[in-house]
Amino acid sequence: MPKLTDTPAWRALKAHLTTVRAQTMREMFRADPARFDKFSLQLGGLLLDYSKNLITGETRTLLLDLARQSKLDVWMARMFSGEKINTSEHRSVLHTALRAPRDAEIFVDGKNVVPDVHRVRDHMRSYTDAIRNGRLRGHTGKLLRDVVNIGIGGSALGPLMACEALKPYGHPEMRAHFVSNVDAADIAETLKQLDPETTLFIVSSKTFTTQETLANAHTARAWLVQHLGTEAAVANHFAAVSTNITATSEFGINHEHVFEFWDWVGGRYSLWSAIGLPIALYLGMDNFEQMLAGGHAMDKHFREAPLECNMPVMLGMLGVWYANFLDAGTHAILPYDQYLHRFPAYLQQLEMESNGKRADREGNTVDYATQVVIWGEPGTNGQHSFYQLIHQGTRLVPADFFAPINSHNPIGAHHAMLLSNCFAQTEALMLGKTADEARAELEAQGLRGAELEALLPYKLFPGNHPTNTLLYERLDPHMLGMLIALYEHKTFAQGVVWNINSFDQWGVEFGKQLAGKLLPELQGGHPVTSHDSSTNALINRCLSQGL
Ligand code: F6P
Repeated sequence: MPKLTDTPAWRALKAHLTTVRAQTMREMFRADPARFDKFSLQLGGLLLDYSKNLITGETRTLLLDLARQSKLDVWMARMFSGEKINTSEHRSVLHTALRAPRDAEIFVDGKNVVPDVHRVRDHMRSYTDAIRNGRLRGHTGKLLRDVVNIGIGGSALGPLMACEALKPYGHPEMRAHFVSNVDAADIAETLKQLDPETTLFIVSSKTFTTQETLANAHTARAWLVQHLGTEAAVANHFAAVSTNITATSEFGINHEHVFEFWDWVGGRYSLWSAIGLPIALYLGMDNFEQMLAGGHAMDKHFREAPLECNMPVMLGMLGVWYANFLDAGTHAILPYDQYLHRFPAYLQQLEMESNGKRADREGNTVDYATQVVIWGEPGTNGQHSFYQLIHQGTRLVPADFFAPINSHNPIGAHHAMLLSNCFAQTEALMLGKTADEARAELEAQGLRGAELEALLPYKLFPGNHPTNTLLYERLDPHMLGMLIALYEHKTFAQGVVWNINSFDQWGVEFGKQLAGKLLPELQGGHPVTSHDSSTNALINRCLSQGL
């Protein structure tokens, strides 16, 4: 197999760079009034405007040639059919099966997994209905109204992001809390707000071996037992979600409150499984199923739409264009939707844990860039912080902007102001401001001569900064499901092009191993000499100062 960077599609894109660099987006828009129509896509209330990118029609053709050359269609079919494409862990990759309809058939090792998916979903419905309507109550008979999810990474970020995103659909008397960090401050500050009689803990862990989650779960359990005065209270106040059912029963969780999922669901792809239990509790199962339906609609689109009309493919290939041909090192996620304030953090794990890798599927070290750094904050807050760098700094920062056409909170002019800022930013980033324009503005302000010329360089904006805009009718459960699945498939498409396995995460193991070795040293009380001088000094300083 030729090296990716030597393949015809890659070489063609390299050669094409000079054509794209020879023109600005401002010129492209001026030359082609139909540019928006040519570079935008719609799917069920979601508009993707990708016209403000550093691309021509030919760039798109060449990027899609690269996708075809990478056999994206073959990889898609392999993933959806349950083939074990996560080769380093010998696992299928079937988060899409979690949102498949009841009559679908998807096989893993000869077994149709869809009935199991729906069995657990039915269990989630009966449990969440019972908690919400008060049929299942706490140990002292009170309604359970505070739900605390104890989990980390994929067992936290998705449910947290979704509960925040869909707050307008939340049960008016229920609150969802999320404890992840092993830093005791996380659980301690959460517990301070809670009444044990009305609190339900969900211990969420795919493996049920994660140090942070087990430490928090034991602390929560001790707090509950101490306040309610009996171990018996654990039965009503704890549920668990895991693939490791032996470990959940060892922890003492009532098996009727244990929700199973399977090794073919990756942690960062698991919010569609029972890991979504806090979402279902807070929003109700009907809303959770709407989210699944949104994810399924995006699956259908990804599988069936031709590549040139395929949203995840376009987002993925644009990312490849910037990472590999225009040397972007980061990608900003900028929701003009406060409800999506944890979406950047969610996408960080999704994309960076999936594709932040350097060994390809054959075990070779790649000689091209893979995943860029994902980061971001909601607009308009970011405008008063880091947008300065995007507008006038020296780096290329492609960005995705998100905005709802309709607000859940139609108060005064807030929403019009929000949208005006969103659209103004993408316009300004694309257009920039030339010396002539800046000079005219300064003259209009009464500046002349040396004073004007001295200020002029600071008033210039190079523009030509690429952005996508995702505009949707309203952020409801179905739309959120579509958006999440859109980025899952974008991530998959990029992994296919980069020839990496997007579904393992060996990179997180090394730090865990070393922490395991360090813990007894920090607890042992004796000065250490076995590490490098920096690590020794840090440990010994803690020991000498009373740890
Ligand atoms: O540290 C990485 C990771 O394995 C993630 O991939 C996963 O989402 C998270 O830890 C939590 O793992 P678990 O659900 O097994 O507790």
